[in-house]
Amino acid sequence: MISTTVKHLPPIVIALAILGLLESPVALAQLDRSRCADCHFANPYTEPAQQHLHRWSLSPHQRADVGCDSCHGGNPDTFESLQAHRGVLSSFNPSSPVHRTQLPATCGSCHVGPYVNFQASRHHELLGQGDRRVPTCSTCHGSVDGRLLSPQGLERQCAECHGPDGIEPRPGRAADARLLLEGIANVRESLEAARRLIERVRDAGRRRTLEAAYLQAEIPVIEARRAGHRFVFDQLEERLETAQERTAALLSELVNPAP
Ligand code: HEC
Ligand code: HEC
Ligand code: HEC
Ligand code: HEC
Ligand code: HEC
Repeated sequence: MISTTVKHLPPIVIALAILGLLESPVALAQLDRSRCADCHFANPYTEPAQQHLHRWSLSPHQRADVGCDSCHGGNPDTFESLQAHRGVLSSFNPSSPVHRTQLPATCGSCHVGPYVNFQASRHHELLGQGDRRVPTCSTCHGSVDGRLLSPQGLERQCAECHGPDGIEPRPGRAADARLLLEGIANVRESLEAARRLIERVRDAGRRRTLEAAYLQAEIPVIEARRAGHRFVFDQLEERLETAQERTAALLSELVNPAP
């Protein structure tokens, strides 16, 4: 399965996968359609559950075939309700994989990079002690949505707790988070522009060299996004600076090729 799909991936993706920087979502996602969603869509019940289904159907999880059982457990191969729900626990139950204290491990089983970094944070330490004041994965990404916050959205999120009226006021922290996320977004935009320019390079040898330089610039961006989950930003800043320097060098090489 993997060997037949790998051929169609761009070399950059293959190289990232070899370096372990991509989490091979295709391989992780379940390959067969699960019956959970089929039955749930056919059974309209409570309003919040309907909204949850709707969000799932619009999410990157649905697109990548990450079904209900990936987060909730249960048996996705049957239409028999009792069997299907064996092991499925309400999110209010502390042993449920979707209880807020369990989410880092549940989401982290697929999103290893963010999880490893999150584990190094004070938020994670307190969450493990059952502290309800700290954020968990769904605070920023939604329960099922897999949404990404804009820089302003992130600032607002941090400020809910660290703003002047928050439970843990730390002026400046929310604004720092916004600035850094803007930095990441800018570098990603520049890299996207570089990628399009590289595609148009005719000389195969030069294109390979540029693709290698692209990869060298992209790796620290991926690492920076993950390092953000420590919420102490020294590592993120260092990775972002490296990415900015390499991206600038790549763009200048594309625009003014060395003779
Ligand atoms: C045969 C239809 C059917 C199948 C198959 C099914 N469900 Fe359900 N599920 C329901 C219905 C109906 C309810 C609402 C029951 C209630 O509210 O008492 C429910 C409730 C739930 C709940 C809420 C439980 C709670 O304690 O609040 C979750 C979570 C859930 N299902 C997940 C799943 C998952 C995951 C699967 C697949 C592994 C699945 N369901 C398969 C029909 C189904
Ligand atoms: C990416 C993880 C994820 C996926 C995929 C997912 N859910 Fe959930 N679901 C959650 C989380 C987290 C909650 C906890 C409530 C919240 O935070 O909104 C939840 C809550 C629920 C609830 C409310 C009952 C409760 O235990 O709180 C139902 C019902 C439910 N999910 C059904 C489904 C069904 C059906 C699917 C598939 C169509 C699905 N979920 C897919 C993460 C997920
Ligand atoms: C079974 C594996 C699996 C689980 C469990 C899972 N995800 Fe995902 N997630 C994926 C895949 C696959 C994608 C789509 C490919 C991608 O963007 O990485 C995705 C996409 C995302 C994205 C968008 C990433 C991007 O770059 O656009 C976010 C954010 C996300 N998931 C957060 C979560 C959160 C939070 C949870 C737990 C509530 C969770 N995921 C649970 C596999 C999973
Ligand atoms: C306080 C907010 C916050 C919390 C809590 C949080 N994240 Fe994130 N997450 C972000 C931000 C900000 C980004 C970067 C978004 C961007 O680049 O646009 C991100 C990016 C991601 C991505 C996409 C990038 C990547 O490396 O794949 C995934 C997946 C992800 N987070 C998963 C998780 C998981 C799993 C948890 C829980 C262990 C979690 N996040 C907790 C804010 C948060
Ligand atoms: C849901 C509330 C909540 C959100 C959202 C939140 N935090 Fe926190 N944060 C806390 C709490 C509570 C503590 C614990 C303070 C203590 O007792 O040590 C904490 C601790 C921290 C710490 C470690 C303590 C310190 O002063 O060094 C950092 C750093 C931090 N948060 C940064 C952030 C950043 C950056 C964001 C946004 C990306 C954020 N937090 C979002 C509640 C939150």
